[in-house]
Amino acid sequence: MLLTAANYQDLTSYDRNKMTGHSLDWSNKPISFKTYQGLKNIKLLEETERPQQNLSDLFTYNQPEQANNSVNLENLSRILRLSHCLTRKEKFGGGYFYFRNVASAGALYPFETYVEAFQVENLEQGLYHHSVADQSITQLRIGDCSELVSSAINFRSSDNPVVVFFLSAIFFRSSWKYRDRAFRYHLLDTGHLSENLLLALKCHELKFEISYDFNDEKVNEFIGIDTKREACLATIGVFSTEAGPNITDKAQEFSSVDLKQFSRCAAQETRYAVINEILSLTSKKKEYQDENLDKKGIQCASSIGEAVKPIPFDNTPELMTYSQAILQRRSRRNFIRKPISGATFSWLLNLLREGDKTGRRIKWQDFLSIGVLIADVQGIDPGFYSFESTNRELRLVRPGFLMEEMAHICLDQAWLSNCSSHFLFMSDLVAVEHRLGPRAYRYAMIEAGRMGQRLYLAAESIKFGCCGIGAFYDQEARQFLNLSPGAHLLYLVGLGPLTNAFV
Ligand SMILES: Cc1cc2nc3c(=O)[nH]c(=O)nc-3n(C[C@H](O)[C@H](O)[C@H](O)COP(=O)(O)O)c2cc1C
Repeated sequence: MLLTAANYQDLTSYDRNKMTGHSLDWSNKPISFKTYQGLKNIKLLEETERPQQNLSDLFTYNQPEQANNSVNLENLSRILRLSHCLTRKEKFGGGYFYFRNVASAGALYPFETYVEAFQVENLEQGLYHHSVADQSITQLRIGDCSELVSSAINFRSSDNPVVVFFLSAIFFRSSWKYRDRAFRYHLLDTGHLSENLLLALKCHELKFEISYDFNDEKVNEFIGIDTKREACLATIGVFSTEAGPNITDKAQEFSSVDLKQFSRCAAQETRYAVINEILSLTSKKKEYQDENLDKKGIQCASSIGEAVKPIPFDNTPELMTYSQAILQRRSRRNFIRKPISGATFSWLLNLLREGDKTGRRIKWQDFLSIGVLIADVQGIDPGFYSFESTNRELRLVRPGFLMEEMAHICLDQAWLSNCSSHFLFMSDLVAVEHRLGPRAYRYAMIEAGRMGQRLYLAAESIKFGCCGIGAFYDQEARQFLNLSPGAHLLYLVGLGPLTNAFV
């Protein structure tokens, strides 16, 4: 039985000497699009204009004090498309495989988005599911559910939410391939999708809040999913003081169809007991006091050297707008050993640091720690550094060119050794769980995924490559990085110049 999230991480570790290998049952591959047959479907509005901001604009964006901007069907349509859309199709087997603007482990796309529209101009009040395949929304409930939602989620904002997004994961989509380890990817992938959604909200200058804390049972029931197969992992509220014109005051009505049946994604679904256990364990949250949080944030590795201050950047280096970058984002692996400028590197670090202005009480530094293996960054010697985000410094943990060994630890994905840097997302799960309770595992993993998506978009914006890496021999990584006893590597993202841009 799992007692802690750290137990789950250990139990699902990859060990070089115990990799059994298993064949995938392609005839039973889960369907990665959810469709609700027989329910009212509304096409999202066609795109009329693309946002012109670049990524840096979105990261310097501060949430407005006054939540003046309202949501209507037009901006909701754009927000949903920007958060999740198909970007390319390729022939695969007898049909087509569709790539998306969100990265996902194994391209299995476990996530789904539900939207509760309280006050959206030109949209009837109710709950909808976002169908990414045809950019439409399906109406699941109608009427006013505000009391139910406010009793299940504790947003800090005193304004009323006009829209709430619910991001869920369908377990078997990823456990088909990754079995017990899949819950890691449910969380990381949800983080990737969350970041896309939050950037789209920033782009529309809306006031919002992300919350990983909610009453799981009530929320899952509300969105009508089968909790043996699917669970909500993140909620995002959008607030506005502008009352929308079409409040219907209709009592809530369930759809007459049994919504839970649509959580099934394959003819034969294997249930992994450990996934249900970690889900139930991490549904527990601990009330914490601010004094319990370490001012310095979570430490995972002891530094030995002087602090290195990355060179400040004068101009932001983007070569395209954020919306162009999001539409052409891909995992790219054709890295070439070539130095990158210190200014570009410090811009990347800054994006990681600045991305969290979401009005939350706890910050990512309370449950996540960032490290970086540097190979080819001008002005910084190769080595493993921890990133001290408060004073924007790097502190040397281990000197030397470490990329080849790290690539070996990442299941011998040799191309990783050509990256100019590996970003490491780590957490001292034992300490974090002690302070914040088991639910903090969700915070750390989702937030690591958010940062991963941010790096993907940043790399794309400057025509560099980027690839998330969830496959590594866990204990080897901990030893190699000399992490403190309770610390774990959660996620790695390789980044750097490419042999040919965008092949
Ligand atoms: C959480 C996560 C883990 C991943 N792990 C790996 C990995 O270990 N090796 C790899 O080559 N790609 C990895 N990827 C990249 C995915 O394979 C890729 O996102 C997916 O195939 C879709 O392709 P695209 O990103 O080009 O759209 C990972 C992506 C995510 C989000």
